[in-house]
Amino acid sequence: MKKIYVDNSATSYPKAPGVSDAMKYFLDNVGCNVNRGGYESAFNTGLEILKVRKMLCDMFNFNQPRNVVFTPGITYSLNMILWGFLRPGDHVITTSMEHNGLMRPLHDLSKNGVAYDVVQCGRDGSLNPKDVELAIKLDTRAVVMTHASNVCGTILPVGDVAEICARRGIKLIVDSAQTVGVLGIDMTHIDAMAFTCHKGLLAAPGLGGFVVKSDLAAQIKPIITGGTGSASHEIVQPELLPDKFESGTMNIPAIMGLKRALEYINSVGVDTIFAKEMALTEKFLMEINGFDGVEVIGKKSTEGRIAVVSLNFEDRDNAEIATVLDNEYGIMTRCGLHCAPGAHKTLGTYPHGTVRFSFGHFNTMDEIDRIVWAVKDILRGGVGRGF
Ligand code: ALA
Repeated sequence: MKKIYVDNSATSYPKAPGVSDAMKYFLDNVGCNVNRGGYESAFNTGLEILKVRKMLCDMFNFNQPRNVVFTPGITYSLNMILWGFLRPGDHVITTSMEHNGLMRPLHDLSKNGVAYDVVQCGRDGSLNPKDVELAIKLDTRAVVMTHASNVCGTILPVGDVAEICARRGIKLIVDSAQTVGVLGIDMTHIDAMAFTCHKGLLAAPGLGGFVVKSDLAAQIKPIITGGTGSASHEIVQPELLPDKFESGTMNIPAIMGLKRALEYINSVGVDTIFAKEMALTEKFLMEINGFDGVEVIGKKSTEGRIAVVSLNFEDRDNAEIATVLDNEYGIMTRCGLHCAPGAHKTLGTYPHGTVRFSFGHFNTMDEIDRIVWAVKDILRGGVGRGF
């Protein structure tokens, strides 16, 4: 049975053409560290990494490549920004659609004297930016929010919130886990944006980062300190970016893979990638909406969403459906709460969760046909007769 992978919100698969080759080439033929060795390949690799920072800047309409920091992943990025920036007495605003990658650090920070308010989103996951403005207090220092829901795909109005934050002198920190590489992101009014490389950027896991404006970077205390290869005579962590936040050896093979992935994404175009994913989503939604026994959670059309669709199978165990989809039809989804219990409460799917289909750049219309057939077959009582 030919498998169909639709768990791209967890990690994209397959990766961009050439990513694994670039990683293997680096490991087999270059293999050095950067910022340390006094030899040509170390210098050249450092320059290659700077090129990757520049490519990311171009993607985000940003012009300070040294303010692109690499980390082991977006969860690290969010922790580094939140723990480094927020102090006891600060107030933060977030939304009810967030992932635990953001909510758990905020919860832990609340035990250290940081207060936060959660702005309630609508039943379709949408956020009214005016509600964010109403939640602002005298001591509000930041709004921290996702760009799009990993549960139902709803896009949150980052641009409108950015305008409010800029006007009110509050920092805006964005979690772009589900949108980077898929939706255009403009850093003009965003103060920091955490990103991952193994989802929409089509590169390897184990690499993420954040893009940060200089005035915010100056206010973030590095929570990880250590060797940077710079200012080695000093016991204190250098303030220089990106070194301030890049202690220890980076995942250089993954960065080389990311370079290849970015070249691929640029050759196709983010808009084209998004249009294709939306065409897949539109077909799926048209077939599934209104079919007896299953409900599309969140937005019912392609308007205001990315290619992440959650289904609730009425009177059925969603986890069992996901298992049947895999075992009997070869369709790989993710069920449960997707590390976002607040989002499920907002959407009315807590605690039973949903079955999530997250389409990616390499899915095809034929695969959508087969998924639709499988879902309908299950609802009609079939147990998978193969394809
Ligand atoms: N946050 C990832 C997901 O939504 C892992 O599946």
